Amino acid sequence: MARVLSGLKPTGPVTLGNYLGALRYWVEDQHRDDSFFAVVDLHALTVEHDPADLRALTLEQARCLLAAGLDPDVCTLFIQSHVHEHSELNWLLECTTSFGELRRMTQFKDKSGDQEFVSTGLFTYPVLMAADILIYDADRVPVGDDQRQHLELCRDIALRFNGRYGDVFVVPEASVPTVGARVKDLQEPTMKMSASSASLAGTVLLLDPPADIERKIKRAVTDTESEVRYDPGAKPGVSNLLTILGAATSRTPEDVASGYTQYGSLKADTAAAVVELLLPVQERYRELTGDPAGTAALLEKGAAKARVVASATLARAKDAVGLLAPG
Ligand code: TRP
Repeated sequence: MARVLSGLKPTGPVTLGNYLGALRYWVEDQHRDDSFFAVVDLHALTVEHDPADLRALTLEQARCLLAAGLDPDVCTLFIQSHVHEHSELNWLLECTTSFGELRRMTQFKDKSGDQEFVSTGLFTYPVLMAADILIYDADRVPVGDDQRQHLELCRDIALRFNGRYGDVFVVPEASVPTVGARVKDLQEPTMKMSASSASLAGTVLLLDPPADIERKIKRAVTDTESEVRYDPGAKPGVSNLLTILGAATSRTPEDVASGYTQYGSLKADTAAAVVELLLPVQERYRELTGDPAGTAALLEKGAAKARVVASATLARAKDAVGLLAPG
């Protein structure tokens, strides 16, 4: 069975884009592969943040993953910081990564531009991500397009480490869904839907009440034509609605387009489909919030399962680089 690992950063509430572009695939993956999913809270420390918000968002995100259908009896779901081995492997990998490699990361260049204080953590973030992956001997890492370069770096680090110290790590493959839904912002449909946009008017949240979902989708930007056609280049707004409705009803956007002649009915049906899709997830979320001890127990069980694998890989890596074992 292939080992799969992916992570979601708790820097904001979970969006419809996270759900349609990643979570629903994870829910399928867990039944096919030996899957590990992490709420990567350590990665949220790389930029300025509020400690109380981070704690709340981490728990909210974990509950969203459970509510979306990740089953702790089937996959391994955990909070990254509960498995301290990630941080320890991170150091070994930092010493196997060059400054020049990190300097070439385009996401660092983009993100450091907006920060007044650029932490070294933001710079070395891709190394921690490599530790997250390599510590579980992951064969496959489902990620969005924006993480492709980080995955390439992870492979380079693994190959270099293995070349220097022997065969310690599995060299993972990225798996970027080619047919998956890339959901865009409803107000700025050339940008990815994100919870960190300045305004959330174009971002549907997994936990948005139905009235908010309907309002956001009905106010989505379209264009001055009136033809319903899937053409992301020329008609990004309409194409985004078709993508969302298609993903929510398991059809291709082209297929969906053939059933519409008006933007109004496309929007109404998209809103209704999203409300219906999210309803059971929101219901399960509410059940989980009613049982805090139960959620904590599930996360502890996940961390314990993760630690078994992580501690074995870390021990192998420490031995390989020549750290003297205690005792
Ligand atoms: N860097 C990823 C992102 O920003 C999150 C992440 C951290 C991740 N560790 C990971 C993704 C390991 C996949 C595997 O989306």
